[in-house]
Amino acid sequence: MTTLQDRLGRPLETLRVSITDRCNFRCVYCMPKEVFGRDHAFLDRRELLSFEEIARLVSIFSGLGVRTVRLTGGEPLVRRDVERLVEMLAAIPGLELALTTNGALLPQKAQALADAGLSRVTVSLDSVDDTAFRALNDVDFPVDRVREGIDAAAAAGLPVKVNAVVKRGANDDGVVALAERFRGTGHVVRFIEYMDVGHTNGWRLDDVVPADEIVRRIGERWPLEPVAAGSDSTSLRFRYRDGAGEIGVIASVTKPFCGGCSRARLSAEGTLYTCLFAVRGHDLRAPLRAGADDDELAGTLRGIWTARTDRYSELRTAETAALPKVEMSYIGG
Ligand code: GTP
Ligand code: 5AD
Ligand code: SF4
Ligand code: SF4
Repeated sequence: MTTLQDRLGRPLETLRVSITDRCNFRCVYCMPKEVFGRDHAFLDRRELLSFEEIARLVSIFSGLGVRTVRLTGGEPLVRRDVERLVEMLAAIPGLELALTTNGALLPQKAQALADAGLSRVTVSLDSVDDTAFRALNDVDFPVDRVREGIDAAAAAGLPVKVNAVVKRGANDDGVVALAERFRGTGHVVRFIEYMDVGHTNGWRLDDVVPADEIVRRIGERWPLEPVAAGSDSTSLRFRYRDGAGEIGVIASVTKPFCGGCSRARLSAEGTLYTCLFAVRGHDLRAPLRAGADDDELAGTLRGIWTARTDRYSELRTAETAALPKVEMSYIGG
């Protein structure tokens, strides 16, 4: 089988699957309460792809070269019986199965997820300061409960990464404390430049703390050196010279990584997006529910990927930030 490539020569290697648009947090930079309040219309149950439909699509994607599947949300662990989906996906040979979560439900779910065949987890944690963290998640969720979630995942044998979105004035003063908390634990913290995803978070370039600044601040405390990262990686990697492990920075704004972008995204209702910043996607649910067979679906996916030209982060301007892009909680990051 020849490798599937898009118009810029990029293969299709990773599929991010959002399994719900709901979340038990209201992070100010992602689901601001003014927009995602009581009246917000989330997807209806019948609109969501069933686990069987997801597994069927993933298996077709796997036939086209996808090697990593990442479950996202909203918050993926709020979807009932998520471990059953993990078990179904783990039955597809040769897939690495990751999950990005806010960690709130990990204390009760980690062992079941590991038993079901999950390969690893990434836990979002933007601050180790309880007051700052409660304000950021905006549902008064205590930081200790996320730590318990991280510990539960590690105890279940799951490799853990920690994601911290850095927003100027909100949590940038806590970057060194976050690094300190996870130094020497084996859990890599990745600091993420705040991005202009969606169009409800009021993003401004001034709110972005550049990766260079983050690395400088941590490096002043504990000297760092760069580590080579894979060409399709989102993060730049650095190791502590004293051997206490690694950190990463995801510099989508100041150092875009579209050149190696091999990721496709499937929304919870079965729409395929070929970029995180896409305005429009491709409906896969309609053909799926109209009875298309695997070959037809594979043909559709091939057509979509070979026509792909996305490189939003390389083209970003103040104007593009205002485009009506899909929301982060809908597409899963
Ligand atoms: P690993 O496989 O562990 O490297 O995961 P990842 O970094 O690909 O995924 P994760 O869900 O941990 O996302 C980390 C951050 O990178 C989030 O803020 C994502 O929105 C962002 N991100 C992931 N993929 C892309 C991408 O293709 N483009 C851009 N601009 N950001 C991305
Ligand atoms: N910019 C950067 N990262 C974001 N995330 C959510 N919103 C944003 C944003 N505006 C992160 C989450 C999670 C990952 C999937 O994306 O915190 O770690
Ligand atoms: Fe929920 Fe994650 Fe968005 Fe926070 S960043 S509101 S935890 S989906
Ligand atoms: Fe890929 Fe779009 Fe992100 Fe560029 S901006 S790395 S094309 S998802």
